[in-house]
Amino acid sequence: MSDFTIAASLSALPENQPVRADVNGTPVALVRCGETVHAVADTCTHAEASLCDGGHVDQGYIVCPLHFASFRLADGEAGDPPADEALAVYEVRIEGDDVLVKI
Ligand code: FES
Repeated sequence: MSDFTIAASLSALPENQPVRADVNGTPVALVRCGETVHAVADTCTHAEASLCDGGHVDQGYIVCPLHFASFRLADGEAGDPPADEALAVYEVRIEGDDVLVKI
């Protein structure tokens, strides 16, 4: 069964800037890179800061605003310390202007 949920409008997402969406109660960070949208957990695995609350995107990584750990958007893998646990990554589908995320 598909359980994709509309999370945002593609046209409303800024380029390379994380935007938080609540998807079925899960806080998700959406990052638009051109016509691609990545969806990763919004909560940093280090000390649970919100990545959308001041975080930024740098060369394919989302950077935590609190202690600057980074995570690869493509697969959630931890990059720069202090985090060493990967972020959850969610499947995204785009239908017209709707960005759907599977939780
Ligand atoms: S809370 Fe994100 S790096 Fe510490």
